[in-house]
Amino acid sequence: MEIITKVNQMQMLAKDIKKNNRSIGLVPTMGYLHEGHLTLVRASKRDTDVTVVSIFVNPIQFGPKEDFSRYPRDFERDRSMLEKECVDYIFYPSIDEMYQPDFSTTINVEGVTKNLCGASRPGHFQGVTTVVGKLFNIVLPDKAYFGEKDYQQLVTIKKMVKDLNFPIEIIGMPIVRENDGLAMSSRNSYLSEEERKSALCLYKSILLAKEMVIMGKKNIKDIIIAIEELIKKTPFTKIDYVKICDPETLECIEDGNIDGKKLLALAVFIGNTRLIDNAILEG
Ligand code: PAF
Repeated sequence: MEIITKVNQMQMLAKDIKKNNRSIGLVPTMGYLHEGHLTLVRASKRDTDVTVVSIFVNPIQFGPKEDFSRYPRDFERDRSMLEKECVDYIFYPSIDEMYQPDFSTTINVEGVTKNLCGASRPGHFQGVTTVVGKLFNIVLPDKAYFGEKDYQQLVTIKKMVKDLNFPIEIIGMPIVRENDGLAMSSRNSYLSEEERKSALCLYKSILLAKEMVIMGKKNIKDIIIAIEELIKKTPFTKIDYVKICDPETLECIEDGNIDGKKLLALAVFIGNTRLIDNAILEG
């Protein structure tokens, strides 16, 4: 496994790999890896000839009051996890390498970024699509892998790829959960023991919504109210949003019943840690 820190070196390597008719799989990450990331890596290893994992905590996708400076980082731990998975390359650039002082171009996907995290975290998705667009041009992947936990991110990247004609297949992989149901996230490491217990309210909300639908209680307002009550009863919590949306356009649906597939999306602060989760409800 080789560690590449320079953009032009990565680009040259990628061009050489393509010249030899070998396919490239990219797993973009911000490091502090967990089993969720490793399922993406394994899918890339299965599907493509050469797997590149990027590790870059992207400053431009964090708001001024968000956790950029305290975001967990442990390159040695990540490196040894990826070595065990037989990854071919880690792309590990510095901030200066990715963003020159005169950097002034961004990618902005409209529509699907309007609601949910797009509303709570202004500028976040512009930061994500800009860095992912750059990574695509640097690593030249045939396929790129993203987790469905960041559902809105996945929809946004698919839209960017379609609109801007990136010749890349975007592959979404199911959420990986801890044994008790908490969705895996690098941010779970912020939680105290007590907060960790409270964090289960996100998964419990999903189970409650699914149970209501199965019992025929499909009214969207009623489902949202039941979830909000469950979360409000849980210590250390503050709701950012509980929404039910169209899974493709991400337009929020306030009234009516669950019919067909709908996305339940949640963002909840547990103490100072903001966690997200989601599930498809099928009416
Ligand atoms: O999901 C993430 O870890 C990040 O948003 C990504 C896609 C690596 C872009 O920085």
